[in-house]
Amino acid sequence: MRQKELLHQADLKVKEAAAEVKDTYRLHYHLMPQANWMNDPNGLVYFQGYYHVFYQHHPFSPQWGPMHWGHALTRDFLTWEHLPIALTPSEQYDLDGCFSGSAVVEDGALNVFYTGVRKVGGELRQVQCRAVSFDGIHFVKDPRNPLISTYPPEGSADFRDPKVWKHADEWYMAVGSGKDGRGRVLLYRSRDLCQWHYGGVALESDGTQGSIWECPDLFPLGDKHVLVVSPMGTDPRRVIYFVGEMDYEVGRFCPESAGVLDQGPDFYAPQTFFGTDRRLMLAWMQAWESEIPTQQDGWAGALTLPRELLLDSAGRLVVRPVAELEKLRERLVFAGKLVVESGAQSLPGFDLQAGGLEVVLSVDLAQGAAGEFGLRFRDVQSGECIAVGVRDHGRELFLDTTGASWGNEGVFCSRLDAPQEKLEIRIFLDRSSIEVFCDGAASITARIYPSYFQLVPELFAAGGMLQVRNLEVWNIGVGS
Ligand code: FRU
Repeated sequence: MRQKELLHQADLKVKEAAAEVKDTYRLHYHLMPQANWMNDPNGLVYFQGYYHVFYQHHPFSPQWGPMHWGHALTRDFLTWEHLPIALTPSEQYDLDGCFSGSAVVEDGALNVFYTGVRKVGGELRQVQCRAVSFDGIHFVKDPRNPLISTYPPEGSADFRDPKVWKHADEWYMAVGSGKDGRGRVLLYRSRDLCQWHYGGVALESDGTQGSIWECPDLFPLGDKHVLVVSPMGTDPRRVIYFVGEMDYEVGRFCPESAGVLDQGPDFYAPQTFFGTDRRLMLAWMQAWESEIPTQQDGWAGALTLPRELLLDSAGRLVVRPVAELEKLRERLVFAGKLVVESGAQSLPGFDLQAGGLEVVLSVDLAQGAAGEFGLRFRDVQSGECIAVGVRDHGRELFLDTTGASWGNEGVFCSRLDAPQEKLEIRIFLDRSSIEVFCDGAASITARIYPSYFQLVPELFAAGGMLQVRNLEVWNIGVGS
């Protein structure tokens, strides 16, 4: 009863606040809260014909506060429907928040696992909990909660973000933690999703990868396993992945390679799920460290575009936007082959207020080709400028926001493998975001906040000639 009333109040508050939200930086084709605060994606799952996306949500203000689970649905990743809030703090064990977690379907029921938090003295006590739903909308918290009431000796009070999955006939749960300055993933096992047995440390930081690991995600991909963690205590703070083997017998993950999942400043706490036929990922498109100008407009936080994860034949992680996003394309504003001598060439301008933009730039990196090339987006009124490109003769993708108005100013770089003869860069611009992909091998995600929205793209090349095999510029997600 009490829970129902709390949910009702929270939903009402969001509705009221939504009427006051200022439009300026609202996104055209990304999931964001109707109003107030959003952080991590939670409980990603395919259930009863829909993809369900839950998220960390503070319904009462655009600042972080006692965490609820917001809830949205999609069938196609293009259009989203907001549903009533799924979880609210209501019990002794989660009075101060329902932190991040995951979802699995078993026997027709949607099971979500989350971290209940409660302030005790100066400490945030963190325990692992479950809630169950049969319609995918209304959840009942397990009367046996908390299912895991304290951290093991190998962990610490930072003990959160359960990710549950099934392997063979057993359920596994990865929980984020850390000890002695090293991030750790703690492993649990269960036969019934209810009684959980501690199974040891699946992996810990090598000493340079963060002091606490948040939001661990451990999953099979191709013939390997991948572990993703969001570290605290690194500078910059970037999400790390490991590709390797999972030894379920001893409960240890053995990494064979590691890397940064996205080199942008606004990509954190990603979560993956299998969907129906592929491994999909969404992340929080904002960061704890960033300035968030939209708070003044009554909202904060969004999720990235959905991305698909694969392993290539060499066992490297490939991340690319889901194919469905091509359906956002509405009008081709430019298409063609081009040659740019050292210098720049302007393309048709566009209004980011009216819709988003996708650019696909395919180039040949023949001998003598430009050492650096890419696209600049220049705001004609203010002179503000963002540049995306490749430099060091095909070895590095970069996003340069030093000429932007506010947000994260910097040059964000991602090393590419050995230079290829052909490269494809894909750029997705929304009113206040940019996501850049290069051949599945690198991505850079950032929030941007243009002062005006009349942007003119311009192709540039330095230190040689740029051979553009094909350039496509699309208006996408217009006014949706
Ligand atoms: C990651 C995180 C999680 C936690 C949640 C709280 O961004 O700090 O570890 O569960 O946010 O909102």
